[in-house]
Amino acid sequence: MSTTETINQASEAVSSLTLKTGEQKDQEEYRYAHLLPHFDPSEKFPALTPFEHVDPGSRALKHADPLAFLKNAARVVQLTPRLGTEVRGVSLLSLDGDGRDQLALEVARRGLMVFRDQHEFIDAGPESYLEWGRHFGRLHVHPTSGHPKNHPEFHLVYKDANSTFNFEVDESITTTVWHSDVSYELQPPGLTTFFLLSVPSTGGDTLFTSQASTLRRLSAPFVAFLRTLSAVHSGVEQAAFSRSGRRGGVVRREPVEHVHPLVRRHPVTGEEALYVNRQFTRRIVGLKKEESETLLNFLYDHVSKAGDLQARVKWEPGTVVLWDNRVTAHSAIVDYGELKERRHGLRITPQAERPIPALEGLELPTL
Ligand SMILES: [Fe+2]
Repeated sequence: MSTTETINQASEAVSSLTLKTGEQKDQEEYRYAHLLPHFDPSEKFPALTPFEHVDPGSRALKHADPLAFLKNAARVVQLTPRLGTEVRGVSLLSLDGDGRDQLALEVARRGLMVFRDQHEFIDAGPESYLEWGRHFGRLHVHPTSGHPKNHPEFHLVYKDANSTFNFEVDESITTTVWHSDVSYELQPPGLTTFFLLSVPSTGGDTLFTSQASTLRRLSAPFVAFLRTLSAVHSGVEQAAFSRSGRRGGVVRREPVEHVHPLVRRHPVTGEEALYVNRQFTRRIVGLKKEESETLLNFLYDHVSKAGDLQARVKWEPGTVVLWDNRVTAHSAIVDYGELKERRHGLRITPQAERPIPALEGLELPTL
């Protein structure tokens, strides 16, 4: 080996050491390094078992003023007429049990609530997140996503200059994937809390739509037909994606498939909502393949193009967003990849009731 080669090798070693030290330093200095995604292939959990869910919003129905929790708000803005409320000047962390019940009811009614300036809530840490989430239901452990070490109850979304997205953005012409979270579970989530610990300077907004409104747009005879139908929701593809070595390569629980009504009824408000999504719904029970595909594609198309029923949340540091997965759908906006900036989100996902068919007595087959 020549002297020049030796010097080059030594210099490469030094620069890689410097780079590694730089990365380690970044992780050490990152304020939320303890909440970075952790994937442990040996971590396994048994199948979920059914439980009785009592919705906290139902307690607020009897309250003399179910909006009392907003009475000290500095500003309350309706994001759109039918979906979404943005609030400033109310501390989520200081809401007592009564206030949280009212919040659950209002999120059910508005579909989506955006609370700004919640640094206190975000900085309160994992024990506080657990206590918060458990008020609303049993916390869901995601089968495949990254979670903070020792805290499987928190679902993380994460991207920085050194990592890729959770999915392959090059495989589709769009990154917009409308869905209701983990709808393949027997008891999918209701009120859901999500916030960003680290916000890119621009991009990474989240789209929401009202599935009560998308349903209402359809004609009465068509809705009457939809009410008679149920569909298979599947976690199989999501697990297969991880098993192929992507997204951390972890499958903590065997994937499940469950049948849910196409039109569900909210247990507290009684409102009906469309409950199908392109990410997890696979087929309509009892229809022939072409009928099922045509009908589902029509509904997905309707959901995705109804811009007048949608709201878009622009994240700011300190923003905490709550939505009701039973009456809304949402999609990430993946437009910040080239920025090489960190986007680090944490979701607290209480499960709710098994979806209630809008059509009383509708039979839901077991697979
Ligand atoms: Fe989601």
